[in-house]
Amino acid sequence: MSSHIPISLRDTFNIQKKNPRNQALLFNLGVIRNIVFIYFVLRWSSKAARQLRGYGLLGTLVAFYDYLRSAAYGIILQAPGVKGKVKAQLDDATAKLEDKMVVRDPNLARYLALPKNGLTPEKIKEELEKLAQLKHADWEGGQVSGAVYHGGSDLLDLQTDCMRMFSVSNPLHPDVFPGVRKMEAEVVAMILSMFNAPPGGAGVTTSGGTESILMACLSARNKAYVEKGVTEPEIIIPKTAHAAFDKAGYYFKIKVHHVELDPVTYKVDLKRVARLINYNTIMLVGSAPNFPHGIIDDIQGLSRLALRKKIPLHVDACLGSFIVPFLEKAGFKSEPFDFRLKGVTSISCDTHKYGFAPKGNSTLVYRNSQLRAYQYYVNTHWTGGIYASPNLAGSRPGALIAGCYASLISMGESGYTSSAHSIVSCAQRLVAGIRENFSENLYVIGEPLVSVVAFSSKTIDIYDVADEMSKLGWHLSALQDPPAVHMACTTLTVKSVIKVKARGKGAAKGDTAALYGVAGSVPNRSVVGSLATAFIDTLFKA
Ligand SMILES: *Cc1c(COP(=O)(O)O)cnc(C)c1O
Ligand SMILES: *[C@@H]1O[C@H](CO)[C@@H](O)[C@H](O)[C@H]1NC(C)=O
Ligand SMILES: *[C@@H]1O[C@H](CO)[C@@H](O)[C@H](O)[C@H]1NC(C)=O
Ligand SMILES: *[C@@H]1O[C@H](CO)[C@@H](O)[C@H](O)[C@H]1NC(C)=O
Repeated sequence: MSSHIPISLRDTFNIQKKNPRNQALLFNLGVIRNIVFIYFVLRWSSKAARQLRGYGLLGTLVAFYDYLRSAAYGIILQAPGVKGKVKAQLDDATAKLEDKMVVRDPNLARYLALPKNGLTPEKIKEELEKLAQLKHADWEGGQVSGAVYHGGSDLLDLQTDCMRMFSVSNPLHPDVFPGVRKMEAEVVAMILSMFNAPPGGAGVTTSGGTESILMACLSARNKAYVEKGVTEPEIIIPKTAHAAFDKAGYYFKIKVHHVELDPVTYKVDLKRVARLINYNTIMLVGSAPNFPHGIIDDIQGLSRLALRKKIPLHVDACLGSFIVPFLEKAGFKSEPFDFRLKGVTSISCDTHKYGFAPKGNSTLVYRNSQLRAYQYYVNTHWTGGIYASPNLAGSRPGALIAGCYASLISMGESGYTSSAHSIVSCAQRLVAGIRENFSENLYVIGEPLVSVVAFSSKTIDIYDVADEMSKLGWHLSALQDPPAVHMACTTLTVKSVIKVKARGKGAAKGDTAALYGVAGSVPNRSVVGSLATAFIDTLFKA
């Protein structure tokens, strides 16, 4: 045993072989070393086994190959001659971006520091009037996909009036603003009932879908830590799940497994999900529907899996919000997705999308209040007093709650049923139109049941179509892997397809085609990442 101790160690401990006390010390050291060694081997091999079981030998090799390719490309990017060129191009792209986004109109006042004296209301309104008039995409015409959801100008007026009544309120102080507390509690109650929560269901309101998703992940993480001692949490999500889940992974140190889709239905592949489940799995995820393709995952199958493995299942209905629950009533095909499935433990539902509430509003509902308590933050030692808050924010604008409450009770079941009817009918017309008149060049992804329709092409560059539509004033969302675009509801695709087809393959690319063309073709996306960072910087250029 002792002969294995490295010389250097023997010197540090000044160990001499003959002394029996030192012999014992030496023996103990050896045992500890072996235990540590075995611990690491076990840890490493169980990790390797999980990886192999989860992704299979081929999957693991492919991932490794991709990693090598990306690393090699990364090294090339850093090479002396290349690095400068890449930087120059990035700077150029950033400058163009700034040019396009930052308005430098001499008629507009610019404040880079507080004005010495406050301005008069007239002057301020005049200035804001100009800002509201700045050239923008025509969202009122309904041509911007996924950016603006609104329920008509009457509802907008009502919301504004209601928000005005509560503009100084703050739900952090329920004793001061009891009306806000009541409205918030009732918003949650209405959503729980909409998703058929069992008695004991509980929920919170949040500032948006992203926060709802962050909180669902936090709750699952805390639950697994407290109840099972999980310290290396993992979640398993469809690759079409919203990026907010990755954001949660990034913020809360949760490993995120992205699961491939079934090639026909474009729903998450349940067999692959099952293979990835292990002791560290804290939550499964399904979307109803997902943002990229508008497809509802097989929530029934996920629920069975979650029950069998005793893991929470989150259903992301941020987008489906006020449409999926009304599909049946509106006369369309639907699939089970809510708390009626026993495995579903939480649902995120955006009031600010198809609920038509003012922006900055969403809800997260749980099967029971214990799950909800896992997302609370409580500090009993703060010098400022005992502090407790349900979600990310501290102070919150009560006005938004008033706006949200007003929207829900103004629309009612009948209002949402009829809005679901017109929105889904429109989407269905789009699907039928593409299938009937464009089947040569375009194909619809999966079988969309809700509001979003994604389509792609095997014959033309779909991003070119997006750029053409953009010239016509239609702003579609670009998707990747596979390349596609989606929209909420329109029929103007027609002219764009004809134009792109007529132009042929080698033609100059528009912005979308150029950006996603690059992103899709390089093995290491660090340059695209730098561009995205530059984009965010640009948002804050005064
Ligand atoms: C919009 C959306 C979210 C995130 O919502 P934000 O309100 O933008 O934070 C999450 N999931 C889906 C499916 C969405 O469409
Ligand atoms: C991708 O390239 C960047 C920049 O060259 C590098 O820092 C990064 O490590 C690369 N990615 C991988 C996976 O090697
Ligand atoms: C609406 O937004 C405010 C501000 O973020 C938040 O306090 C409230 O909880 C949100 N949700 C609802 C449904 O009102
Ligand atoms: C296909 O195109 C024709 C001619 O423009 C149109 O009348 C028809 O409604 C289209 N089909 C669908 C399903 O939209």
